[in-house]
Amino acid sequence: MKLWGGRFETGPSEVFERFGRSLDFDKALIDVDLRGSAAHARGLRKIGILSEGECERLVEALEGLREDARENDAFFENAGEEDVHTVVIRKLKELVGADLADKIHTGRSRNDQVSLDVRLWLRERIDEGRDLLVGLMEELLRLARKYPDAIIPGYTHTRRAQPVLWPHYLLAYCEMFSRDFERLSEARRRVNVMPLGSGALAGSGFPVDREMIARELGFEAVTRNSMDVSGDRDFLLDFEHAANLIMLHLSRLAEDWILYTGEEYGWMDLGDGVTSGSSMMPQKRNPDSLELIRGKAGRVFGNYLALLVTMKGLPMTYNRDMQEDKEPLFDVVHQTLASLEMARVVVETATLKEEAPRAAAEQSWAVATDLADALARKGMPFHQAHKVVGRLVLESVREGKSAKDWTGESLAAFAPEFTAEMAALLDPREGLKTREIVGGTGPKAVAAALEEAEARLKQMKC
Ligand code: ARG
Repeated sequence: MKLWGGRFETGPSEVFERFGRSLDFDKALIDVDLRGSAAHARGLRKIGILSEGECERLVEALEGLREDARENDAFFENAGEEDVHTVVIRKLKELVGADLADKIHTGRSRNDQVSLDVRLWLRERIDEGRDLLVGLMEELLRLARKYPDAIIPGYTHTRRAQPVLWPHYLLAYCEMFSRDFERLSEARRRVNVMPLGSGALAGSGFPVDREMIARELGFEAVTRNSMDVSGDRDFLLDFEHAANLIMLHLSRLAEDWILYTGEEYGWMDLGDGVTSGSSMMPQKRNPDSLELIRGKAGRVFGNYLALLVTMKGLPMTYNRDMQEDKEPLFDVVHQTLASLEMARVVVETATLKEEAPRAAAEQSWAVATDLADALARKGMPFHQAHKVVGRLVLESVREGKSAKDWTGESLAAFAPEFTAEMAALLDPREGLKTREIVGGTGPKAVAAALEEAEARLKQMKC
């Protein structure tokens, strides 16, 4: 069955039919398509295109189809139609007869219909994504609370830079994920606008009550321009951008932990449940779950680029190219939600082996900045303090010493500006206390940041 054909002398070639068919993927929209059609039927009832009885029969049939689609695996079996919208019309005809079913598309085009369907579908997926982000942040905060005083070396250029508290490190990821939460919420706001009534591009020829339809379907507002609706996929790009940043952040976390759990760092462990062995090397325990997250990030970025490029040259308004939005969108959604779910389970199993990162911080010169700061606090211009400590490090490197091999006496002998109390800063724990600034890694600042993050997370849940 087709929704068009009157002006054609022959049907489409078998090749074109196969080529253009979207049912295999847009069948994911079946439930929202049926809900949207029921709202549209009520809209038609209100302006007298459908009688009360006709509307009731249609809505009842649409509800029945929803249940059937949910429960019956064979719902789409033998469907030869080009898309999900056409399958619905064929099934409606079987249920209520052709004369009534043929009325449902009055004043509607598949162009505004598909925009409606995708918006309804995506709104729910965004809500799932927001819940998954909150769950992940909860786990990260739990892991932070589990080792409140643990010290790790923070890195720049993959070189030990300055000591930081373990919770400070995890809170950095919570900041990224909470920005992702905001971005998803902003994307949701743009998705949550009701396009029905736009028709193919010029606006419906029937004065349906768009506000009523919007209310019924839980939309915040109605779209303002029919041509815009027909040619617009910004709302998908907004979402995909947010999803891309989620994947970017997940991938960086994965990369960190792939390193931190490896033999070279040896700071962390992951549970058996999220690691795999090797078919050949009996000793292996590989972080495949994290590697897959990192790998999927590349795939999700590619999907985003695909939609941008698909849209960039399209003349106003709808072009069939836009059908190519769906498979990448579905893939972005599925991979992002699955990666968030996986990440949460990985974090649940993660443990920190506190001594290893502490030793890494102690055995390096990660405290050098603390010493230079201390000299500057006593009045030495910072660049000079930097130079003095730089020489101290050079001397240590030459003699094979690390920071903890120095004492107050030997420091003062090296440079008279070093005071006895500065020697305390050779212990990374002491330097942390000098960073009690908002956003810094001082123990009190971090404790406050943890509480603030937990309170913010509670807000996100309501
Ligand atoms: N399958 C199409 C899509 O996803 C539905 C819209 C078809 N509209 C049309 N004018 N051919 O974009």
